[in-house]
Amino acid sequence: MQLPVRPRRLRATPAMRRLVTDVRLHPGDLVLPVFVREGIDAPQPIRTLPGVVQHTRASLVATAKEAVAAGLGGIMLFGVPEHLDAVGSGADDPDGILNVALKDVRDAVGDDIVVMADLCLDEFTDHGHCGVLDAAGRVDNDATLERYASMALAQAAAGAHVLGPSGMMDGQIGVLRAALDGAGHEDVSLFAYAVKYASGFYGPFREAVNSQLKGDRRTYQQDPAAGVAEALREVRLDLDEGADMVMVKPGLPYLDVLRAVAEVSDVPVASYQVSGEYAMVEFAAQAGALDRDRVALESLLALRRAGAQIVLTYWALDAARGWIG
Ligand code: PBG
Repeated sequence: MQLPVRPRRLRATPAMRRLVTDVRLHPGDLVLPVFVREGIDAPQPIRTLPGVVQHTRASLVATAKEAVAAGLGGIMLFGVPEHLDAVGSGADDPDGILNVALKDVRDAVGDDIVVMADLCLDEFTDHGHCGVLDAAGRVDNDATLERYASMALAQAAAGAHVLGPSGMMDGQIGVLRAALDGAGHEDVSLFAYAVKYASGFYGPFREAVNSQLKGDRRTYQQDPAAGVAEALREVRLDLDEGADMVMVKPGLPYLDVLRAVAEVSDVPVASYQVSGEYAMVEFAAQAGALDRDRVALESLLALRRAGAQIVLTYWALDAARGWIG
């Protein structure tokens, strides 16, 4: 048959498919989120996140070196402290687990990989909210900003290249930028969790950080049913306040939002493939329902295709070592 166009010609061989592909993944695009826990002497598996552990300080440093060797773009640290209190005192204590671990990692890797710190209080508070509470038990936006500013200075002093404020307080980027600049940390970047939904897909993360939260975060994180306009407003505010990069979170359930943000942002756009997205594939693969590596790679490509330049994923090392390139 004389067909005028045969799209299948461009799919005929692996070499041809590689030549004509639009979307590529490079280890340098990927950021590995890691957990470091105080007071343990061996890495602890996380039941809800197969293959992910709560690190000791030593095992974290070893993993950071592996991330460098694999050519990853960055590593994002989350702290799991032993002692919690109402204001999250461990968060801005220079001897707090996250800050000492940041210093360990920076001392080990220097500038060979971008070292990022999660900047939020939920891992450090005994009530598990991302901020401090007022007398009525509500998350107090402006009192929380003061705590974040103090945390930012501790993280910058510990050597973080990039701070990732993930608490969704209004005005957090502007306050952090001013605090950093006022203390001579003009070179420290702000990676804004600009668009973050109150998502059930964070479920497995709760166990990863031993979260104490009862209730939910719906008064500060975004409503999953809200439209794209709200997401664009959050991005605009963060860009106006000085965000160096913006993130949309979670990943796959919000590809429409990611695409819309990528179209307007003039700073790099990231997607966070969160714990529940990872766990769904891992557990389905354990049950024999999915080919883990294939589906994981497909999901990462989807995030890149929708407009993410940077992807945070618990599969970063697996991807860099095996699935891409
Ligand atoms: C808050 C924070 C959360 C995640 C990253 N930062 C939890 C939440 O907002 O409830 C979730 C990440 C994941 O699920 O992988 N510090």
